[in-house]
Amino acid sequence: MLVAGLGLLTWGAFLVMQATTKNWVERDLTLRARLAVNGASHILAEGLRAEKPAELKTVLTNLVRDERILGVSACAPDGQLVATAGVAPVDFGCLQVTPFVFPKGAPLGSPPLEWEHVAGIRGGRAHLNGLAVMDESGPAGLVILVHDLSFAERRDAEGRNLLLVAFFLLSLCAALVTIIAVRLSWRSWTQRLRRMLKGDEETDEFRPLLRDVRALVDEIMTERDADGEGGAWTADRLKQALRRNLHGEKIVIVSNREPYIHERQSDGSIRVLHPASGLVTALEPVMRACSGVWVAHGSGTADRDVVDAHARVMVPPGEALYPLRRVWFTEEQEKGYYYGFSNEGLWPLCHVAHTRPIFRTSDWIHYGEVNQKFADAVCDEAEIEDPIVLIQDYHLALAPRMIREKLPRATVIGFWHIPWPNADRFGICPWREEILDGMLGASMLGFHTQGHCNNFMDSVDRYLESRIDREKQAVVQLGRSTQIRPYPISLEWPVRWLKDLPPVPECRRGVFEELGLSEDALLGVGVDRLDYTKGIEERLQAVERLLELRPELLGRFVFVQLAAPSRTAIDRYRVLNESVEAIAKRVNDRFGSGSYRPIILKRAHHEPPTVFRYYRAADLCYVSSLDDGMNLVAKEFVAAREDEKGVLVLSQFTGAARELTESLVVNPYDLDQSAEAMAAALMMPIEEQRARLRSMRAYVAEFNIYRWAGRMLRDAARLRRRDRLSGRLNDQYSARFTGAES
Ligand code: F6P
Repeated sequence: MLVAGLGLLTWGAFLVMQATTKNWVERDLTLRARLAVNGASHILAEGLRAEKPAELKTVLTNLVRDERILGVSACAPDGQLVATAGVAPVDFGCLQVTPFVFPKGAPLGSPPLEWEHVAGIRGGRAHLNGLAVMDESGPAGLVILVHDLSFAERRDAEGRNLLLVAFFLLSLCAALVTIIAVRLSWRSWTQRLRRMLKGDEETDEFRPLLRDVRALVDEIMTERDADGEGGAWTADRLKQALRRNLHGEKIVIVSNREPYIHERQSDGSIRVLHPASGLVTALEPVMRACSGVWVAHGSGTADRDVVDAHARVMVPPGEALYPLRRVWFTEEQEKGYYYGFSNEGLWPLCHVAHTRPIFRTSDWIHYGEVNQKFADAVCDEAEIEDPIVLIQDYHLALAPRMIREKLPRATVIGFWHIPWPNADRFGICPWREEILDGMLGASMLGFHTQGHCNNFMDSVDRYLESRIDREKQAVVQLGRSTQIRPYPISLEWPVRWLKDLPPVPECRRGVFEELGLSEDALLGVGVDRLDYTKGIEERLQAVERLLELRPELLGRFVFVQLAAPSRTAIDRYRVLNESVEAIAKRVNDRFGSGSYRPIILKRAHHEPPTVFRYYRAADLCYVSSLDDGMNLVAKEFVAAREDEKGVLVLSQFTGAARELTESLVVNPYDLDQSAEAMAAALMMPIEEQRARLRSMRAYVAEFNIYRWAGRMLRDAARLRRRDRLSGRLNDQYSARFTGAES
């Protein structure tokens, strides 16, 4: 830029200079011509009047001796050439020039004019002057002088060259000065930055940078082991990180769904169930790694039979790693809080799946009562005045504020496992302010994606009096802030259920046998709770479309849907149940023949080992959620495929689609696209399946649940240090003002 600017400037200067010197030269030559003619005017006039060409020629020859005068012609007043010496310009002879010097019709006695012109001559350009020769009797004729202009052109060229050199030198100087200035200011900037990083100086200018650098350093430190080594996140590494960051303090996890459900069997025995819940899948391994207590609803028919007097039971059964504290509610409370407000209100409110939310005041009252029950149980379990409490999901939106009221110094972390809708949609909730205020009792709130965090902050901005600190991603209310962060949830790695599972080919053989499939059959699998957000109807319709589009798959392709019945007391779920069954029947009636049924619907609770066997047996897994916070089924399928075979077809409306980008990402509403994706999956070469799965497996292995928990608890530890310091500061101030220090 600088050089271009200087170039333009120089070029401009050159043009101005050229025009000025041209002017000067022409004026100078006219003057010289005048001097020459005036000096010899007497002899010239005599010669012209006497018409003595020989004498005139001598005079003219003398004039031509001047090195810049190339030629002179003497003309009579009537335009006749009388004598000439040197070069005579062809187009401008006496006849042509005379009318300019002695214009016809000029008033009597008016002085003759001077004529000048620049013309080309052989070998260059010349300046021509036509000047009258006067004596006492008036005009005796005129003289045409031809001046050489090549010297002026030479001068122009020299000037131009000089300017070019000046431009080059100027550019060089400007570049040097700029480099030196930049170096000096960079040096002083880096010196100040170094001083600031050392803590010697802190200026407003650098504060945002400093914050970013510190965050980065913290991030890197958390990624390292306690002994300074990097590596994968494991349960042990999480334990060490907790010991380092939280000094072994216990964690209280609280959720509606419990990790182990004790169910009474018809023969009187008790069976332990692992619920189909993403929340449990994710958090149970964290709880195994950390010491602490899990507070949850006792929903099993034999739950009360196995707890102690404090409603506690040690789990996992047979391992007794941590206590599960059960919370009981009445049937009415369960109806209002769980089925009503949580699952007929908040669940459809947060998922864009076209089911109307239903809000009833009675449900809201039960929701408040049950949240208080959970909050009381947490406070009961807390052994210190500032415990770390991890509150899970939409069932417990009011609990953070309730816990904060009883334990103001607790570090309360809320994690929302489902999507957070946009502010308009959230505004449908009649108790939107109360929900937001309840959640903001937490020190930190986590969501799966940045989009959900943004939606949450927009909702707060719209409906609550508070300050949104976008830079720090926090909401500030009455001087207390809540950090809002994305923490995409994941799985333990390796998944513990895989340890005792047979190898992949054996699983495939077993499942094929169970389903009565021939060896060359192609198997698709879907695994979900029977929920309208999972897009199960669309999935089965996509299977139908696939068979329409690819008749060659008839008799060969089978889709098995493992569907765990869920929330069956709610009408919408009953309707869904019937609809899914009807679609499966229709497709089977249409395309089935003999023993061939393209869709196998297994409506039952399946324990994790069964689910993982199916993942291993399948050629493809289709996750078609219409809206989903993360969806851990997608990650489970990836984890199950140690053989790096099989293809994941994944809805774009899941949090997982942002991470598992090597899956075949589809819009589940687009049946043609979904069918084509399944067809592509079934035809995909093994090498490509391998490449995709390898990449996704590496991702899930790296971003596993231990890393998720490690990051969240590291952030909590930092908040805790900050809160403890400001608490200490407050204590000192109040002691000073009340004089209590002495
Ligand atoms: O993963 C999201 C989630 O809503 C969890 O909160 C819940 O535990 C799970 O789905 C299953 O739902 P439910 O607990 O109602 O069976």
